[in-house]
Amino acid sequence: MKKKLFIKTYGCQMNVYDSGRMADVLAPLGYEPTETPDGADMIILNTCHIREKAAEKVYSELGRLRPLQKAKAADGGRMIVAVAGCVAQAEGAEIMMRAPHVDMVFGPQTYHQLPEMVTRAIRGTGGVVNTDFPAESKFDLLPEETAQPSGPSVFLSVQEGCDKFCTFCVVPYTRGAEFSRPVAQVLAEARRLTAGGAREITLLGQNVNAYHGEGPDGRDWGLGRLIRALAEIDGVERIRYTTSHPRDMLGWEGDDDLISAHGEVPQLMPFVHLPVQSGSDPILAAMNRKHTADDYRRIVDRMRAARPDLALSSDFIVGFPGERDEDFAATLRLVNDIGFAQAYSFKYSARPGTPAASMDDRQVPEAVKDDRLQTLQQLLNAQQVAFNERAVGTVQPVLFDRPGKRKGQLLGRGPWMQSVHAEAAERLMGKVVPVRILDAHANSLSGAVETVEAVLMPASVEATA
Ligand code: 5AD
Ligand code: SF4
Repeated sequence: MKKKLFIKTYGCQMNVYDSGRMADVLAPLGYEPTETPDGADMIILNTCHIREKAAEKVYSELGRLRPLQKAKAADGGRMIVAVAGCVAQAEGAEIMMRAPHVDMVFGPQTYHQLPEMVTRAIRGTGGVVNTDFPAESKFDLLPEETAQPSGPSVFLSVQEGCDKFCTFCVVPYTRGAEFSRPVAQVLAEARRLTAGGAREITLLGQNVNAYHGEGPDGRDWGLGRLIRALAEIDGVERIRYTTSHPRDMLGWEGDDDLISAHGEVPQLMPFVHLPVQSGSDPILAAMNRKHTADDYRRIVDRMRAARPDLALSSDFIVGFPGERDEDFAATLRLVNDIGFAQAYSFKYSARPGTPAASMDDRQVPEAVKDDRLQTLQQLLNAQQVAFNERAVGTVQPVLFDRPGKRKGQLLGRGPWMQSVHAEAAERLMGKVVPVRILDAHANSLSGAVETVEAVLMPASVEATA
């Protein structure tokens, strides 16, 4: 009997990947993904704990699921409700106490054990809580990804966890110690993904450029070397990686193999997300970031020397404990020096259990955080708009991976991660196609396909008729 599985994913791309793999683990038990929670046989909330009120949001979502679960029971069915991901890891059994209708709580390192957890939950003498960091790696035990087509642009998790312990961050506690998958395992997964139609692979890890997986030669390979091997696989047209730490842009022996890969591997896209968090050295030190603002500038210079058209995105935190006006001014200076194509900025929020949360005497008032966030976002938005406008008139290779908003349109991404809309025939889906950029908007570009298909395209004929 087929059963319906609804997974709601919060937070980072790592969670998106994990949700896909949870579906793979549950498929042999008869669970098939569904688009809505109504009437589902299992609901998994794959949660994120990185910023404020994460746990509260999960509890309110769980409250909203209660009536659906009751309706299912009234129909004689059973809806299993599970909380996965980083809130599950952080809250553990507390979730069952506050929301007794939850059947399973499990952390990011345990979902290969889902079949056993489901059996225990169904037998049903109390809920299942699993927040272990098992000795075995889930990657060794997960089934191969399903043969279901996953689209032209896919995620591949190569590294997990973090040993950096930035003082504001929960990740080292929820995701655990750094771990890299062996090279052979990653290459095998990449081959399966491309055989299934993937053209662009985004390598994922909390600290992906700290990758040091065991190579076929028995030695540790860095991310640069892994990327070079991936580029040899037939069908791999694009490679990206996220999220990186500035310290790891240079290898563990100070080598710049990853940086030089940017100049040498044509499939490696010229866009890197490289969080800096702050431009002030005292704040970076208090954050335990292990780099200064000038280290960051130097690394970016080296990356741009290898790949002159490289664009950057970043994460920023404003209002970290002790941040003074001059610290914030240093952040604005850094933003002006680097010039970002895109960025995320957040107000600092104290995460329970992290060192910065107990820097009580130095917390920045909310109003100051608001002000700084607004100033920073204005500057970053202006840089993003300028970056998008510079694309107008260029021809960019665009990988179409979704239908566009309007009929006859496809949506894809250019090399610099910009969303590009264009009128295009259905058959261009999943292909990298040259597109002339005609217009720039705040968050996307629009253009026209530059191939013979553009002329023969039935949709555009319809549109102009
Ligand atoms: N407060 C605000 N932002 C945070 N981030 C991580 N922890 C916190 C926190 N406690 C941001 C960082 C990180 C991104 C994923 O989330 O900028 O790079
Ligand atoms: Fe968190 Fe810092 Fe690790 Fe990134 S590098 S996951 S911000 S501790």
